[in-house]
Amino acid sequence: MLSIRSLAFCSIIATLATVIYSTCPNRAIVAKKAVKFGVTFYTAAELQPILTCIEPQLYKDPNDTTTLISTGKSCVINNSASKAISALSLYSSFNSCTDLMALLDKLTKPFLTICKVPINKSVAVLNACKANTTIAAASKQDACINKMYGTGLAIVTKDNVNKYCTQLAAKMTSTEWGCCKTYAPKVVNVKLYKCYNITK
Ligand SMILES: *[C@@H]1O[C@H](CO)[C@@H](O)[C@H](O)[C@H]1NC(C)=O
Ligand SMILES: *[C@@H]1O[C@H](CO)[C@@H](O)[C@H](O)[C@H]1NC(C)=O
Ligand SMILES: *[C@@H]1O[C@H](CO)[C@@H](O)[C@H](O)[C@H]1NC(C)=O
Ligand SMILES: *[C@@H]1O[C@H](CO)[C@@H](O)[C@H](O)[C@H]1NC(C)=O
Repeated sequence: MLSIRSLAFCSIIATLATVIYSTCPNRAIVAKKAVKFGVTFYTAAELQPILTCIEPQLYKDPNDTTTLISTGKSCVINNSASKAISALSLYSSFNSCTDLMALLDKLTKPFLTICKVPINKSVAVLNACKANTTIAAASKQDACINKMYGTGLAIVTKDNVNKYCTQLAAKMTSTEWGCCKTYAPKVVNVKLYKCYNITK
């Protein structure tokens, strides 16, 4: 009885999730790929609402990186209730090593430069889709974000991530890099990237 009831419950949840996410099928693939690329702090299921939360701003103005980053931070906080304690403890530990937000600010520009090709290609696909007048307005955000994710997914490989990581490491002081090496294993599987072995 109990198992039938929980089975029914699971089917309802699965159906709802399918209905909600089928409008942007690449979102689920993006979340799964992030986990495959080593994200351990969040599961793919936990990453999806974070992406959903960022998408309206991403669609509205993909070039406004300042607003995009602040929206991103807000989306991570708003959708991490179940992780609040571990995230807070990680944040304060990292801060006692080096100022996390200052480091993120410092790395934003180099990151945008290093990742210019995949970012520009994805934004170009998004903008072309937005300019397309044959797509119905009601489904346009989902349709266009979906296309953008598809483009990004095709470009990003583990080799690329390793390359970006190596270039970003070069922008950090030995203290900052040391802090990243100490805390990165708590959120990603660092064994996937040779970059982690850099010493400075
Ligand atoms: C964003 O920048 C791209 C070039 O990088 C440009 O083609 C596009 O028009 C810009 N979009 C907006 C909304 O400013
Ligand atoms: C996060 O939650 C706060 C409080 O509910 C809300 O004001 C804010 O708009 C949310 N942020 C995003 C990006 O949805
Ligand atoms: C890529 O986008 C940036 C702005 O985000 C712009 O400055 C740059 O010119 C673009 N590069 C190409 C090749 O479109
Ligand atoms: C606009 O969207 C339609 C429907 O998805 C597609 O067939 C067409 O090729 C698109 N046009 C452009 C210029 O991208």
